[in-house]
Amino acid sequence: MPLHTGRHFLQIPGPTNVPDRVLAAIAQPTIDHRGPEFAELGREVLAELPEVFGTTQPVVVYPGSGTGAWEAALVNTLSPGDTVLAFETGHFALLWKAMASALGLEVRSVPTDWRHGVDSEAVESILSEDTTHEIKAVCVVHNETSTGVTSRVGDVRRAMDAAGHPALLLVDTISSLASIDYRHDEWGVDVTVGGSQKGLMLPPGLGFNAVSDKALAASRDASLPKSYWDWEPILAANLNGFWPYTPATNLLYGLKTALEMLKEEGLPQVFARHQRHAAATRAAVEAWGLEVLCADEREHSGSLTAVLVPEGVDADEVRRVILDRFDMSLGTGLGRLAGTVFRIGHLGHFNDLTLAGTLSGVQMGLQLAGVKIDPSGVAAALTVLEQQ
Ligand SMILES: Cc1ncc(COP(=O)(O)O)c(C=O)c1O
Repeated sequence: MPLHTGRHFLQIPGPTNVPDRVLAAIAQPTIDHRGPEFAELGREVLAELPEVFGTTQPVVVYPGSGTGAWEAALVNTLSPGDTVLAFETGHFALLWKAMASALGLEVRSVPTDWRHGVDSEAVESILSEDTTHEIKAVCVVHNETSTGVTSRVGDVRRAMDAAGHPALLLVDTISSLASIDYRHDEWGVDVTVGGSQKGLMLPPGLGFNAVSDKALAASRDASLPKSYWDWEPILAANLNGFWPYTPATNLLYGLKTALEMLKEEGLPQVFARHQRHAAATRAAVEAWGLEVLCADEREHSGSLTAVLVPEGVDADEVRRVILDRFDMSLGTGLGRLAGTVFRIGHLGHFNDLTLAGTLSGVQMGLQLAGVKIDPSGVAAALTVLEQQ
């Protein structure tokens, strides 16, 4: 690896850059997780966290990755042989679907072209035909991190209501939480799955389930095997600010600080900032003469942009040049998108000049890798940033 000066540019769509204020909070001495000081921290974090999900209902916090929180959502609400409806909107949707099968669920799966989000008309027609209510849950990835497409969860809810179907709605917000507008209560979501390492500006290591009353009721009859992920003992211990096992004490310090920072900025402003940076990024991509993978402008992601490279170009070679020359990490193409896209993360602890630096690195890297582009992309993005 060449020697680089200055800070590494971590512009993958998560894990994201952790603010110094959060790092300083995490660096505090670890305390007794069964003592009074911890109880205060636990109660405070558990009281503040639901707002980020757009809910007043409880959020279960696990020491674990997002994948663990996926599993928690399934095993707490479903029983062996239950049918779930899944939409193959991208790499992460496929992984969640595979997990459901591995856990002994029947998966009814709807393919997509990976350039569009969940088709709410399909949701309505499939659920309307399911008159015996075989389908117990609908699984949706809100923001597909592999494609940069954001599904319209409010429309999915309306489709479920129009079909008059009682299935649970399970939504993955791992790359949209605290960066793209999300409303657990208003959209009638039953379990929202989240993680710490993206919009929340924390290191990886925490997984979340925001849980509706309907999901809690379902959990009382659900018979998939569960132990570590079982909501019940965690929610009981949480009443006093504790966990039934050793929680990730220092990440909770960080979470408290991250929640303070989000509150200071205001969630509507956080969402608007992400949309603005996404719009400036798309202006750059368009000016370069390249194509954004997301094919529906209503579904452009606020947290990342997946860029298609021209035929014959290896997107990973472009990423390699950018890492070598400018010490910047970009997201790779996942699954069937390997080699054909690179992903620019513009979420979390991020501002106009971080975006300007990021896009400058991408523009220079594309040219150095021999990709034929119009070098007016950065200027187009700056014009968007100047205007708004
Ligand atoms: C949308 C989405 N779902 C699930 C996951 C899996 O989360 P983790 O890697 O924290 O287990 C990711 C990870 O990037 C993701 O982006």
